[in-house]
Amino acid sequence: MASKFFSHAKIERNVTLLGALSLVVVAIGGIVEIAPLFWIDSTIEKVEGVRPYTPLEQAGRNIYMREGCYNCHSQMIRPFRDEVERYGHYSLAAESMYDHPFQWGSKRTGPDLARVGGRYSDEWHVQHLKDPQSVVPESIMPSYAFLAERELKAGDMRQHLRALYRVGVPYTDKAIEAANDDLRAQADPDFDSEGFKDRYPKAQVRDFDGKPGQLTEMDALVAYLQMLGTLVDFEAAAPQEQAR
Ligand code: HEC
Repeated sequence: MASKFFSHAKIERNVTLLGALSLVVVAIGGIVEIAPLFWIDSTIEKVEGVRPYTPLEQAGRNIYMREGCYNCHSQMIRPFRDEVERYGHYSLAAESMYDHPFQWGSKRTGPDLARVGGRYSDEWHVQHLKDPQSVVPESIMPSYAFLAERELKAGDMRQHLRALYRVGVPYTDKAIEAANDDLRAQADPDFDSEGFKDRYPKAQVRDFDGKPGQLTEMDALVAYLQMLGTLVDFEAAAPQEQAR
């Protein structure tokens, strides 16, 4: 039998005792959930294929942020059937582990872009960004035609990568050193930056904006859009179908 002191009737009539005991119970729950986080290195499972952004993709990402694309677009597919059927495999934590800041977004005026890479051609993206209504008549997306005219002034990408390295993105010394060459090499197949393909597996190398010889903001943004969601091979990772 419970002792008289801790009988419910007594606790419920004494607000101080009820408060103190509630605190103890809630604290135990808190400790069980929070304490392990201090002893594990990461809460993010490593996933094969996820790599840091190339300098050109990173520059495109900066334009994406500068233009506020995140105000209308999310980059986070939730594990619900309607989302998975429309956008593809739900987003994994590892897929945004090198995002500083992340682009999950909070509102979808336009569709989610987490897996838009490879869904359309470069020409489609360029045309859509210049004049969205010319490809999707009912679109309310604004025009970003000026991106095609503006030379990409990404600044010193070495500094950029170094800053990202400091917050945990595993760029190698070589990657940081070659960042400015890598930026050019990705948008110009004739420009060679030794080791680029090894540093950034699955990096797509070509002229993205349809204007060879000119490195524009459009090149960078389209390079970024075309890689979104393309790093992880979900088909290879999917469990094989069980024989029945
Ligand atoms: C005012 C809200 C708004 C802003 C800001 C906006 N978009 Fe959109 N976007 C939309 C809407 C609505 C659609 C769907 C209709 C369409 O395809 O144009 C869309 C569609 C898209 C698509 C096609 C997605 C798909 O799966 O069909 C891409 C890619 C895209 N936007 C990229 C961008 C980029 C990059 C920026 C920033 C430079 C941007 N958007 C800014 C509203 C916006």
